[in-house]
Amino acid sequence: MSDAPSNEPASRGRSCLAIILAAGEGTRMRSALPKVLHRIAGRTMLAHVLSAVTEAGSNEVAIVVGPGRDDVAAASRAVLPAAVIVTQAERLGTAHAVLAARGSMLAGVDDVVVAFADTPLVTASTIARLRRPLAEGAAMAVLGFEAANPTGYGRLLLEGQRLVAIREERDASDEERRVTLCNAGLMALRGDVALSLLEAIGNTNAKGEYYLTDAVEIAAARGERAVVVTAPEAEVAGVNDRAQLASAEAALQSRLRAAVMAAGVTLVAPETVFLSSDTRIGRDVTVEPNVWFGPGVTVGEGAVIRAFSHIEGAEIGEGAIVGPFARLRPGAVLREGVHIGNFVEVKNAVLGAGVKANHLAYLGDAAIGAGTNVGAGTITCNYDGRAKHRTTIGEGAFIGTNSSLVAPVSIGDRAYVGSGSVITDDVPADALAIGRGRQVVKAGWVTSQKT
Ligand code: UD1
Ligand code: MG
Repeated sequence: MSDAPSNEPASRGRSCLAIILAAGEGTRMRSALPKVLHRIAGRTMLAHVLSAVTEAGSNEVAIVVGPGRDDVAAASRAVLPAAVIVTQAERLGTAHAVLAARGSMLAGVDDVVVAFADTPLVTASTIARLRRPLAEGAAMAVLGFEAANPTGYGRLLLEGQRLVAIREERDASDEERRVTLCNAGLMALRGDVALSLLEAIGNTNAKGEYYLTDAVEIAAARGERAVVVTAPEAEVAGVNDRAQLASAEAALQSRLRAAVMAAGVTLVAPETVFLSSDTRIGRDVTVEPNVWFGPGVTVGEGAVIRAFSHIEGAEIGEGAIVGPFARLRPGAVLREGVHIGNFVEVKNAVLGAGVKANHLAYLGDAAIGAGTNVGAGTITCNYDGRAKHRTTIGEGAFIGTNSSLVAPVSIGDRAYVGSGSVITDDVPADALAIGRGRQVVKAGWVTSQKT
């Protein structure tokens, strides 16, 4: 893979329309969910492809969905509101699918990139490399790979450096089937010829489909140049079933782990740490084994994430210590130097600098001021069976162990709450609140019971 920046100079300044084929139902997934909405590293395969084409310089994106697939359309809009959604009413082949986006091509564009939404590991830099030959005059560029087992793939037929045809498995001669250089499915076409090439494609082949791949022979017959750009097989792997989904997940996790380590993060046992595509981890953070990062997590420099923590939608400040066995849920914001210990759950709560909650607590829908100590077993009772309520705690406060803070409730700066309290009324600053039954000691009670 090239280390060059994703948007390579040759394509800079050229407009680009990406057409994403997302019409596949993916029956082998055996799922109620369309295939392209299955997730790897916390986001849908469709979103991965959308982000790669966008990063590779596409300024316009058209997404081809199957009939009635409002869910795919909605997911597309959620990721890329400007995307044009078109429907392929009948499944008549890949060229037919691309032509569903004819309207977007008519507007006139320098480059057209075609990508499959079920091929989620393709990088932006590979797509940018695929566009480059167009800037140098080629009519089209096809992404190829050396297949360990080429069965089922279209074979790339070359004459010298020129690509002269792509032969689908079913239509190939025995000699052509021995070719191991295969079509990954991604293609870039020069905008001024794309539509006329696509419209010239017929369906006289073994499958009776309009094959996108036939564009190559048509271009060659017109004296136009078609070329192959190669990528490693692992990058162009398609996902058709749950086993391939798991392989794609594993491949992407390795890539994400390598990237965070390269950016200065220590992963003690990298293969046990699971990241999301959007996980942002600062320099000199240490992540101990068996940690899960769901979507939307940022970790500040120098923080330590101890073993077996489950973290999603959380912001962790510089130098914070989290875990072992901590759970941070969406809306957890830990400022600098916060300590969250074992079996502490934080949700939708902002913990000011230096707050400590080291053991066994639930802190939900809360704001806790800097320097406050939250004792073991503290619970913010945020739910009354109907609605959620907030708990506010000031700075430098001390919440004794095993306290129940019944929200809505507020505890002032520097206030103390006695252990075992059930706090239902606000506590002013600098006060001590005790809300528990008084201890009764009955001397000699045990002997008085004996008869
Ligand atoms: C296609 C290529 C083949 C390549 C292989 C790589 C063609 C003709 N063949 O074959 O050269 O080696 O991918 O995986 O392009 N789709 C639609 N509408 C259709 C047909 C397909 O949207 O009418 C979508 C599918 O959902 C899928 C993609 O296009 O995402 C590829 O279609 P598929 O049927 O999987 O083509 P292959 O036979 O795998
Ligand atoms: Mg396929």
